[in-house]
Formats: sequence, structure tokens, C-alpha cells
Amino acid sequence: MTEAGARAPGKAILFGEHAVVFGEGAIAVALTLYFETRVRVSGGDETRVDGRPMDRKHHAYYQEAVRQAWGARGPLEITTSSSVPSSSGLGSSAALTVATVAALKAMRGRLSQEDVARTAFEVEFAVQGRASPTDTSTASHGRAVYIARDEHERHLWTVEKGGNRWCIHDLEFPPMDFVIGYTGKKGNTAELIERVRRACEADAGARARIARIGAIVEEGRGALARHDLVRLGQLMDENQGHLSALGVSSPELEALIAAARPHALGAKLTGAGGGGSMIALARDSKACSSAIERAGGKAFQAKIDREGVVVL
Ligand code: MEV
Repeated sequence: MTEAGARAPGKAILFGEHAVVFGEGAIAVALTLYFETRVRVSGGDETRVDGRPMDRKHHAYYQEAVRQAWGARGPLEITTSSSVPSSSGLGSSAALTVATVAALKAMRGRLSQEDVARTAFEVEFAVQGRASPTDTSTASHGRAVYIARDEHERHLWTVEKGGNRWCIHDLEFPPMDFVIGYTGKKGNTAELIERVRRACEADAGARARIARIGAIVEEGRGALARHDLVRLGQLMDENQGHLSALGVSSPELEALIAAARPHALGAKLTGAGGGGSMIALARDSKACSSAIERAGGKAFQAKIDREGVVVL
């Protein structure tokens, strides 16, 4: 094949951010917000991304994806489009990487979600120096995904790197309407992780909150399987309380969460916090979106993507 395209979804963490760094589980959902990449063997003498020569500064993920999934097979024309807001905590770099890796692999033959997830994780790891496979596995598999140290039922694949081990599982889930609220501010993930680590070293109360978030993840799995939306909302609210007490929320996030709650079953920050985005399990998506926008956020309505990465 001399050309191919693929699309991959963005994601939100529903339960367990930060606690997952301490070995607790986490639940992520793929969202109906997509990144799309098209690749074509080019007659030119260099690879171009959206018409510009590919360089490390602007195109690190593309460059690494091409290196790992295409090699030295010759220059390409890469074109992209996206409805995943970038730098918002919604997994846009993972969606970009998964879509690009899948398009490149599709030109060379058959591919599986697992194969794409593994290569995309290596690409993110090479670019970021540190990454968990949560985002790339969710963008590859779609649906709802449970990440844990050990294997449970509906196990998909296990990723090991640098002494860490992540077992990725598929989860059952009910139809859900989410509204994402983006603060417009980017949180510093490394700094926020460090803040939680220091809090846990100094304070048994912080360690107890991490353990409780781990328990919320397990309760959340049960509530998803039972299609118990009311309990899911309560668990989201409780999870937010612990994240806030751990110091990773922000006034902007709190304002959007407070605005969303009257129209939602539950709401919390999603991802590292300190800015970035919040997620609400909406009762009324339209009213929830309007309230978030009035409070200064950018709102996106989304459901759970059911397909993961798709070759177009
Ligand atoms: C960031 O999206 C989520 C964290 O738990 C970090 C991680 O899992 O790599 C804060």
C-alpha cells in the first residue's frame, strides 16, 4: 500500500489518577473525540507533516513513530486533523501517536490493537522519557480500560518497562454522557506527581487518601458492571475530594466542577490536575456544557468510544 489513514480516540481518567503512580489501579475511558492521521509515500526528498518539513522540535511524536513503525522506507506526506484539544489532559499526544503508528503499520500489512498499543507506548516513552501505557492502551483499545499491577478477568495485554508492570483490561460499561471542561491552563504533571509524593512521605492522612482512591477504583469497576450511574457519580465526587485534599486541584478546576455539578451525577478533575480538564457524568449535557462555559471553561460533550484505533 502507498497510502493509509487511521484515527484514534482521546481519553479521560475516570478514577485513580495519582494513586496509580503508587501502584493502585485506575480506570480510563476512550472519548468520542478523535485524532486522525493520513500517510502517503511521497515523491519528495523529505517527510512533511501538514505541509511542513518534519523536525524534532515540532514533530517529535511523528518523527519517533516514523522511526519505529516505518524506518528508512522513504519520505512520507503526513496529514492530520483532530478534535482532541491539545495539552488538555485528554490524551492528545497518545491519540496522535496511536493514529500515526496505526496508519504506518497499515501501509505495511495487518495490525492488531495490541501491536499498535505496544509500539505507541515505546514512541511516547522515547519522547517523554517517562510514560505509563494508560493513554496509548486506551487510545488503541477504546471503550473503558482498567489498569492494574496484576491480571484480572478481561485481561487484554501487559506492558513492562523499567521494572514497572501494567496489566491492561477491558471493562463493561453503561451508556454515559460526559461533559469535559477544559480550564485553558496546562498543569505540570511532573510537579504535581512530586507534590503528591512529598505529601505521602510526610503525612499518613495523604497515604490513606491514596489507598481510598484505590478502593474507589475497585468500587467503580463494580458500579460500571452494574450500570449504576448514581453510584459512579458519587464515587467521582468522592475521588475529587481526595484529589483536592492532596493538593492537585486548582481554583479554575473547582469553579468548573461546581458549575457542572447541578447538571451532573458527579464531577472531578481528570488527569494530573493543576489545570487541564475536569469531567462530569452529565444528567443534562447541554445545561452542563453551558454552565461550564459560563464559568470560564471550554466544554466538550463526549460519549465513550467503542472502537479504539480504526484504519480508515
Ligand atoms: C496523568 O494523566 C495521570 C497521573 O496519574 C500520572 C500517570 O499516571 O502517569 C497523574
